[in-house]
Amino acid sequence: MGNTGQRLYDRARKRIPGATQLLSKRAEMFLPGQWPSYYSRARGVEIWDLDGEKYVDMAYSGIGACILGYADPDVDSAVQEAVRAGTSTTLNCPEEVELADLLCELHPWAEMVRYARTGGEAMAMAVRVARAKTGRDKLAFCGYHGWHDWYLAANLGENDALVGHLLPGLAPAGVPAGLRGTAFPFHYNNVAKLEEIASRNELAAIVMEPIRSQEPEPGFLEGVRDASRRNGAVLIFDEISSGWRLNTGGAHLLYGVRPDMAVFAKALSNGYPMAAIIGVGDVMQAFQSTFVSSTYWTEKIGPVAALATIRKHRRFDVPKHLVHMGNLVKAGWRKAAERTGLRIKVGGIPPMASLTFDYPNGQEARTLLTQLMLDQRFLAAGAFYASYSHQLHHVENYLRAVEEAFAVVAAAIEANDVQRLLKGPVAHAGFYRLA
Ligand SMILES: Cc1ncc(COP(=O)(O)O)c(C=O)c1O
Repeated sequence: MGNTGQRLYDRARKRIPGATQLLSKRAEMFLPGQWPSYYSRARGVEIWDLDGEKYVDMAYSGIGACILGYADPDVDSAVQEAVRAGTSTTLNCPEEVELADLLCELHPWAEMVRYARTGGEAMAMAVRVARAKTGRDKLAFCGYHGWHDWYLAANLGENDALVGHLLPGLAPAGVPAGLRGTAFPFHYNNVAKLEEIASRNELAAIVMEPIRSQEPEPGFLEGVRDASRRNGAVLIFDEISSGWRLNTGGAHLLYGVRPDMAVFAKALSNGYPMAAIIGVGDVMQAFQSTFVSSTYWTEKIGPVAALATIRKHRRFDVPKHLVHMGNLVKAGWRKAAERTGLRIKVGGIPPMASLTFDYPNGQEARTLLTQLMLDQRFLAAGAFYASYSHQLHHVENYLRAVEEAFAVVAAAIEANDVQRLLKGPVAHAGFYRLA
């Protein structure tokens, strides 16, 4: 195995603060010093690194963006046609209206749509509009919603001693101290905490993912909906990661609870930059009362990619496939752990399954797993994000390699030997997602 990618990564660290634009794509998150880091091309579930080595991606499928697989032929040919037609002009592209109609058809409660190109900015827009609509500043939230000031304000804490306490890994340096006390967190399935926040504050919005790592308890989402109505707060569902995985559209459709706004990005357009904010007309009209506007929100590739992705998604019942693959992987992890005597925790909805080693040195064990799997030409970490391109043979080959790797990890834990087997440092743990 060459290490051209790692050498480039070392160079990038000097040139690009943090080496990459997304925390979740840092080599340190996977296998410090050894991760291939860069790709030369990708197709389906296969990725070639800069030395021409081929890996099967059984990790994050483009950090959840490439739900159909890499370089999907249908989406790519629609995009290529858009490129030939010209992607940015003085006039607008008609596809953004077509996409708005389709999103409202899929979500009959929604009447209007606005666009952005990334998840975090779309969330910031939704929050701005909720504040504009209500004339209020404060927010209650659960989960991760991006890098913007409104969200990181939660990490300002009540005083300087508490800075960064709440969501470790999300440092709020540079966020105006004046935002202290504007974002109040609650845990998923804890409606009592939300009600307590709502009883003390007039909220502009309640912001959350409808589902992430655990199922909603009976009455939870309904309780959130009631709390938002009683408080006069806009209910915003962040469907950036949950959307398009369990059904064609937002996961909230499965639970029968309607938000006032919902936000999509990532899987919406199979890896091409695109984000959408949908909402009831009454709230969305508040976009007219505040300034929210950007040149590249008008280009053509995003809407074209989203239309092609959604149509294929619907035609082939992609979610059924994702759930099936995810369930196979989850069951395979459990079986391999049982056979090798490892203690693991398996979580997440099937298309975004997560795996942790239930030991004090669990992160060391996870790093060793990634190292062993890389030797077998799999990109593998503490999660499996399914794509439509994952087939049974990928899963079977992967699970065979997982069982062999688990046996090595189990023996190493038993012998207190994990560190010694690692060829580099332990992977970083990322940030804490309040869920
Ligand atoms: C639930 C959720 N919200 C917001 C974001 C931020 O989206 P982006 O990385 O496109 O800015 C993410 C990304 O992981 C997410 O999972």
